[in-house]
Amino acid sequence: MELVNGVLRWRFRYDALLARLLSKPLRKKDYDLQLVLLIALHELNELSTPDYAIVHEAASQAQRLGKKWATGLINGVLRSYLRDREQLASSIDEDPVARFAHPQWLIDRLQQDWPEQFDQVLRANNQRPPLWLRVNLSKISVDDYLQQLGSHQMTAVRHSHALAALRLDTPMDVGQIPGFVDGLVSVQDAAAQMAAQLLAPKNDERVLDLCAAPGGKTCHLLELAGTIELMAVELNPIRMQQVQQNIERLNLQAQLIVADATDTQSWWDGRSFDRILVDAPCSASGVIRRHPDIKSLRQAGDLVELTEIQQQILQQAWCMLKPGGTLVYATCSVLKMENEQQIESLLRSNVDVEEVMIDPNWGVACRYGRQLLPGTEDSDGFYYALLKKMERRH
Ligand SMILES: C[S@@+](CC[C@H](N)C(=O)[O-])C[C@H]1O[C@@H](n2cnc3c(N)ncnc32)[C@H](O)[C@@H]1O
Repeated sequence: MELVNGVLRWRFRYDALLARLLSKPLRKKDYDLQLVLLIALHELNELSTPDYAIVHEAASQAQRLGKKWATGLINGVLRSYLRDREQLASSIDEDPVARFAHPQWLIDRLQQDWPEQFDQVLRANNQRPPLWLRVNLSKISVDDYLQQLGSHQMTAVRHSHALAALRLDTPMDVGQIPGFVDGLVSVQDAAAQMAAQLLAPKNDERVLDLCAAPGGKTCHLLELAGTIELMAVELNPIRMQQVQQNIERLNLQAQLIVADATDTQSWWDGRSFDRILVDAPCSASGVIRRHPDIKSLRQAGDLVELTEIQQQILQQAWCMLKPGGTLVYATCSVLKMENEQQIESLLRSNVDVEEVMIDPNWGVACRYGRQLLPGTEDSDGFYYALLKKMERRH
């Protein structure tokens, strides 16, 4: 995982290094050799394996790939890197793509949206992510769970605003986390935990969770208020199985509906909701440190389609909300077109939208809603808007 995630995280930088180190680019059919070199560069930069062992192992891959002729090439490239690494690093740093290890379009957008914070965001995206837990407050208090951790010689820190969040000081496999199997805790970033906390469901209310998989927020809503009537809608049937598994592990209950959130005719019975969570599909530009493949897979053009879907889902959700009801719109994006601009569009087409101010002690205020930037208190990047539907006047 370290090699795969590490190469994906730093690929734009390592590509730039290779471009300097190779006298001519490798042929398309030798992409496997390019990957061997990228992995070796990552090991040389970030891991403690001795340099000679990394070079030897990489060179011996040539034979394993049936390309013995490339043994000398791999050896030569990696040895030149080791000889000139400082000078090479400073020469590629002139190009922001190599310096920040992000695609140019994303650097441009972040700079446009966050002129003062963009380099801090880019650096946070290149960190290895921590492991955050959500304590199941319907079963155990955070203090009592901290004690349980202590009895296993494990330590964790709280988040200043996500009330159930604990960051483990030493990440580990979920199976080894005390109480995980019994549903005392789940794995969820502190920023993601703010969404259900902001929606603040009350027992016996009718609640809708749109775009629910893998179900982190579905379960959190039920942990906050066990007797809500919860309907969770998700388009992808395979991802919905994860919601089912999470609900079973935590022994919770919800009505799970595999459907397109925008096609309300196919699944909605016409009864409106007290509270709605819209956790919209997005660029995921706030969670790049957890999913570094986003840097390579996401393209600027994707945003057009995504922002259209976001507006459709948000508008449909608004129609299903009771007058006096509350809606949280959340994304794990830091791009304004997916966030405050979506709320602006909703306000433009509906006269009954009232923005509720979110506690100004955390995150960054946007024109509408609040943004947590990645790395703030070691959390992911997330956006939230809290909206109330005005009561009808007679
Ligand atoms: C950001 S993820 C949701 C994360 C989830 N709320 C959680 O806390 O675990 C967005 C989800 O929206 C789903 N989705 C995308 N388009 C959708 C649509 N039109 N209707 C319903 N779900 C959709 C995706 O399959 C994806 O699972």
